Amino acid sequence: MNLKQQSALHATQYVRSGATIGLGSGSTMSFFIRALGQRLQSGKLRRVLAVPTSEETSRQARTAGIPLTTLDDHPHLDVAIDGADEVDADLNLIKGLGRALLREKVVATHAQSFIIIVDVSKLVPRLGTRGPLPLELQPFAAGAQIRWLETMGCRAELWRDEDGVPILTDNGNQLARCWFERGITEPESLARDLESRPGIVEHGLFLDMATRVIVADEGGVRELERGR
Ligand code: A5P
Repeated sequence: MNLKQQSALHATQYVRSGATIGLGSGSTMSFFIRALGQRLQSGKLRRVLAVPTSEETSRQARTAGIPLTTLDDHPHLDVAIDGADEVDADLNLIKGLGRALLREKVVATHAQSFIIIVDVSKLVPRLGTRGPLPLELQPFAAGAQIRWLETMGCRAELWRDEDGVPILTDNGNQLARCWFERGITEPESLARDLESRPGIVEHGLFLDMATRVIVADEGGVRELERGR
């Protein structure tokens, strides 16, 4: 069993029968969705409803036999489970390299607890040191947003597919990726700047949101909790 799978399997214990949950996106979540589906099919778990954070997660959940709902019908989630691209020592996160950050943030905001599942490679001393920060951009004047982002101390580019076509999210928006040479030194202040910029729909900094991080490494699975 690989590390992502170990972390995902561990997280299934946080879903109780009768729960309404948020289902994140990405490869670690694929393992979780499969494991959750098996628990439902075997009868170990009953009456779970899930809100998916992407079209891909929605497809995977349907294949796994997980009943789906929407936030409009169920705005109060018991728990949201999701992967992450980076996790720092304060359990702040970068998310979105699976291109689903907007719905992931909306769903996590509606959840009583937000549990992150990762392998040890995602733990970083400072956010932005492992890879880029993704952002979702309104397509109007996206090129101008890229130039503005470069004034924030990063190298920014529009995220394109292999044919050079800008990638569209499930919401019809475009994506930017920002590389910070020494990492993100002041995430709170960067988040505020990004949130005050019209046209930037959402950013991949998930600050003060995770309640628990499940990490798998070669020695086994452990849990990190805020403030411990
Ligand atoms: C999806 O948009 C992301 O936030 C994912 O949660 C993140 O990229 C982790 O993905 P993996 O589980 O595939 O590493």
